[in-house]
Amino acid sequence: MEEGAPVPIGPSGRRPAKGRAFALQDLKTQDGEPPRRATGIGEFDRVCGGGLVPGSALLVGGDPGVGKSTLILQALASYAKSGGSAVYISGEEAMAQVRLRAARMGLSDAPVALGSATCIEDILATLEKGKTPGVVAIDSIQTIWTGALDAAPGTIAQVRTASFDLVRYAKSTGAAVLLVGHVTKDGQIAGPKLVEHLVDSVLYFEGERGHHFRVLRAVKNRFGPTDEIGVFEMTGKGLAEVANPSALFLGDRNSISPGTAVFAGIEGTRPLLVEIQALVAEAGYGSPRRAVVGWDTGRLAMILAVLDARGGLGVSAHDVYLNVAGGLKVGEPAADLAAAAALISSFAGIALPRDTVFFGEISLSGDVRPASQAELRLKEAAKLGFSSAVVPEGTRVDVPGLTLRPIKDVGDLLEFAGAGERRPARAAPRSARIES
Ligand code: TYD
Ligand code: MG
Repeated sequence: MEEGAPVPIGPSGRRPAKGRAFALQDLKTQDGEPPRRATGIGEFDRVCGGGLVPGSALLVGGDPGVGKSTLILQALASYAKSGGSAVYISGEEAMAQVRLRAARMGLSDAPVALGSATCIEDILATLEKGKTPGVVAIDSIQTIWTGALDAAPGTIAQVRTASFDLVRYAKSTGAAVLLVGHVTKDGQIAGPKLVEHLVDSVLYFEGERGHHFRVLRAVKNRFGPTDEIGVFEMTGKGLAEVANPSALFLGDRNSISPGTAVFAGIEGTRPLLVEIQALVAEAGYGSPRRAVVGWDTGRLAMILAVLDARGGLGVSAHDVYLNVAGGLKVGEPAADLAAAAALISSFAGIALPRDTVFFGEISLSGDVRPASQAELRLKEAAKLGFSSAVVPEGTRVDVPGLTLRPIKDVGDLLEFAGAGERRPARAAPRSARIES
């Protein structure tokens, strides 16, 4: 070897022995699309891109208590009931606890092979003994450890090693491996982002405390889309799929009060109507408060600034609270218009028309920008009984039963929302604004 050339070092720091040559192949797929292993839980399969891919590893992350174990057990039971072979290894709960949960969900007779273990060597030895299962779930990756390391379970080194071994097991045997991972307070899969790099797909299971709704969201997917969501409702007997989530996120539309607007959104391939609620209140001393649930704080600051600078609203000095109903997180810029409408409505103390939906992105200049898939959004609105839609100018879609109100900027929106001309609006009487 030449002087100065990098010394090849293997993973264990040794000089590798002479390598074995392997055959290179062409790009043509040999067996078409990878066959999917559908679990039969429709919302879960759709988020995965049509079912689990053999030989792949998938991480399901979420806060403790959100329902990860429930979801996984349900998916495995459904898969096993339709003839697949499923193994569930719990590192957190004793067999009796898992059985109790299964009984509660009415799944006791599903042919899922159950184990309670935390040592990766034991788990792999067990899995490699019999016929390779179709799907294996490990709940949770933070509890798994290897005897090869001194570190405690849950540490980065342990989680990484265990994940790596399980991913390798999936690739070499063709089993689909599901890893459950807890999320830390700052929203990361505990243990490390590195697990996210090791696996093929990462799903997050989310829900707000106090709400029964749970949203499964793909944040990484080697074999499918990343913008799909699956919606579930936590019931006394496990998770129920919600096929028409719009109705769920709309809140109680019978009592309308100032400060609510309905956003006609899209999540993945599905239209989704959500209610956005705002409360603008006289600020106390010091800097005004801002609290946001389900939306981006920076985006709210921007919308408030645009409403002041371009619409002359004068809302910035007030306390502002914004909430997306039902515990959903909205990431689409097209939600700007609905959020702005809710803010104006609360500020002015005038309720928006009950039968109206909103979508459109607001730019820093105050202009309203078009949004994609207008037709899908509007059809969903019409289906759920809305009769008018405030949309970006230039939206040309004809949906029977729905009147479009195209607007070009926030000035138009202010006019629509009844806050009047472009002048610094005065707040309506306080009583009008806080009644709900
Ligand atoms: P779990 O799946 O254990 O959460 P995770 O694995 O993410 O920590 O579910 C926890 C919560 O779900 C628990 O507070 C009880 C509730 N739950 C129900 O409401 N109904 C049910 O049928 C089950 C199994 C759980
Ligand atoms: Mg659990």
